Amino acid sequence: MAARPKKPRSLASFPGPLVLVGAGKMGQAMLEGWLAHGLAPRKLVVLEPQPARTLKALARRGLRLNPAKPLPAATIVIAVKPQDAPKALLALHPYVGKPTLALSIMAGRTLGFLEQALPQGVAVVRAMPNTPAAIGRGITVATGNARVTARQRGQASDLLAAIGSVEWVDDEALIDPVTAVSGSGPAYVFLLAEAMAEAGIAAGLPADIAARLARETVAGAGELLHRSDLDPATLRQNVTSPGGTTAAALEVLMGPGGFKELLTRAVAAASRRSRELAG
Ligand SMILES: NC(=O)c1ccc[n+]([C@@H]2O[C@H](COP(=O)([O-])OP(=O)(O)OC[C@H]3O[C@@H](n4cnc5c(N)ncnc54)[C@H](OP(=O)(O)O)[C@@H]3O)[C@@H](O)[C@H]2O)c1
Repeated sequence: MAARPKKPRSLASFPGPLVLVGAGKMGQAMLEGWLAHGLAPRKLVVLEPQPARTLKALARRGLRLNPAKPLPAATIVIAVKPQDAPKALLALHPYVGKPTLALSIMAGRTLGFLEQALPQGVAVVRAMPNTPAAIGRGITVATGNARVTARQRGQASDLLAAIGSVEWVDDEALIDPVTAVSGSGPAYVFLLAEAMAEAGIAAGLPADIAARLARETVAGAGELLHRSDLDPATLRQNVTSPGGTTAAALEVLMGPGGFKELLTRAVAAASRRSRELAG
């Protein structure tokens, strides 16, 4: 039976201050998830050069936005672009105390890099989320350094669970294939919708109908998979009658050079690129 995502825990008693560095697409998604799961704005500090209007509104409810004086943080979540990391991490030093947990979601920035760039001895978690986090349906894989206590690991899980499912790996090297499967994966699914629409047009459908059919099919099948306890292979077999139309298509898709082979090559390429970017 497939593993079902655990219900996220309430963040009402989450220890503050929680500092978020970078409130762009991902940072904002996490922030919204935390607030939706009960985190009080007064526990939050946000460092963001161009704060959105919603952030300014939260500042009126107690969130501290770009405070003039840094304060020791219980947890710091780093969500700036990887190329902005050196400057952003240097500015974080005054926020780091002995028990501070630093949780980074930056692609390609390793635990080793984070340990070097932050004050010595800090507990660090490196996590890789994906874009469905924006609707609370992401999946994040995390790994931590030896300084991370069981309690801090639980806290990192609680924060990440506010944007979807969470998995942990002990081996940091696995973050490269994770990036290739779930980090980059939403783009493969969007490509599937594009390709299905184009195939529909080639088969004679008007473009608008083909686009709608592809979109709703990908979204609906995704939702079915999400709600089902069955694995994808069983769901596929359940809609494939021997000698029928689906079977005719799957013979092409699952044949030599087909879908599985292509995806294996695509994931290997993304994994390789992730390793290169991490240096
Ligand atoms: N989006 C994804 O699918 C995804 C998936 C997995 C991991 N990630 C990781 O998530 C991180 C954020 O990605 P994103 O798509 O949310 O990027 P983004 O929208 O560009 O957000 C980054 C934010 O950080 C701000 N920033 C830059 N320098 C800063 C500093 N020194 N201090 C504080 N804030 C600073 C940026 O402000 P300005 O715009 O003014 O520079 C921007 O608002 C990246 O490291 C990425 O690798 C993203």
